[in-house]
Amino acid sequence: MSWNNHSLDGCHLEELANRYGTPLYVYSVKTMENKIQELKQAFTEAYPNTRIAYAAKAFLNKAMVGFVMDQGIYLDVVSGGELTLALEAGMDPERIEFNGNNKLAWEIELAVKEGVGRIIVDGYGEVELIQHYANIYKQTVPLLFRITPGISADSHDYIVTGKKDSKFGFPLDLQRLLPEIQATQESPYTPFYGFHFHLGSQLFEPELYTEALDLLFTFYDELLEHIQVDFKELNIGGGFGIPYRPGEPSLPYSFFFEPLMTKVTEYFEKKGLPRPAVITEPGRSIVGEAGLSLYRVGTVKTLEGIRTYVSVDGGMTDNIRPALYQAKYHGELVGKDREGKGEVVTICGKCCESGDILIQDLEIPPVDSRDLLVVYNTGAYGYSMASNYNLLPKPGIVWVKDGKDYLVTKPQTIQQIYENDLDYPFKKDE
Ligand code: LLP
Repeated sequence: MSWNNHSLDGCHLEELANRYGTPLYVYSVKTMENKIQELKQAFTEAYPNTRIAYAAKAFLNKAMVGFVMDQGIYLDVVSGGELTLALEAGMDPERIEFNGNNKLAWEIELAVKEGVGRIIVDGYGEVELIQHYANIYKQTVPLLFRITPGISADSHDYIVTGKKDSKFGFPLDLQRLLPEIQATQESPYTPFYGFHFHLGSQLFEPELYTEALDLLFTFYDELLEHIQVDFKELNIGGGFGIPYRPGEPSLPYSFFFEPLMTKVTEYFEKKGLPRPAVITEPGRSIVGEAGLSLYRVGTVKTLEGIRTYVSVDGGMTDNIRPALYQAKYHGELVGKDREGKGEVVTICGKCCESGDILIQDLEIPPVDSRDLLVVYNTGAYGYSMASNYNLLPKPGIVWVKDGKDYLVTKPQTIQQIYENDLDYPFKKDE
């Protein structure tokens, strides 16, 4: 998405805000299509036997499931909730890959019963649980094992997942992993297909992936000395970084896939084995730059010599990333771009938390109450991590395409937030 843009794909942001209210998430369908196009060119069209599974956790609603289906790609889910929504929206279960740590029994049962395409085994004992249901439903579910190769990616600690000290996956420890892999052979319904890793999110170094591959291939060599298992599939996760502010790097997908695919091809050629299917699971890089958030400015408070607080009508409830990861975003006042820059202000949300700061230092033209603020590139992990803190309803979501807008998720109502509450149980009789 381009900065300084007060309309998106032919739709005026001010008009959208007036029609649907704020805070509001707006997504450019074109940007998502372009991302998928670029990804296909760099990956599935460049190399045979590869597939893309969009990581639902970055952003999912019914429309997004439809988009994924339309694009002919697969879907990576990590919970019974994501799985249920995907199935309800019509996704072919065979095109769903089920990831996640501590999968619950009911989630595994649902996944097996519905016949998901793959389950990525993430913990000790999970194979047994999968087999229990696979035997009951007589459903075949190919398994991949998620490994944590011991790579320390340079990203925020909370979003690095491939290091050894992680709640996810299995360390590359033959003694402990061998019995888990052997266990797959106890049922004809749970064939072993290969390995998965996900090294972290918002990554910019392809070397991380090639280093992880080196470690995995050394492990596979060792594994073959003990057990004969075919390496049919390799899932390299997602993680591709995106720019959040003007001037930040924007890397093409090929920057990651070229070295990675070369490494994979070389290894299997040297071994005289067929190259496994390679799968990637990007989330952020597909939707992050496609989405933006709109907020209405409320109170403005200048503390002489300290800072100016500009309060908006959303905040950490619709975008927790600044508070949780110190994530930095860029924003602008819609319609005021030609008035030059004024002062550096702090954009804060309306939650009762001093840490509810959306943008720490943003240079904008003189700001008035009722101005419309756009925050760019909020399409990933914004809506999907939204909460109802302070009983703030979640924003609505509008998609725009070719000058037309489509409401794809209605704004939540306050009543929907507390609709599960029951009356006070100790009411005194009148
Ligand atoms: N596959 C697996 C197994 C994952 O755990 C993730 C992200 C992805 C794929 C997609 O990664 P992506 O391409 O989106 O980087 N809430 C954090 C990000 C957490 C990512 C968790 N796993 C944030 O807002 O930065």
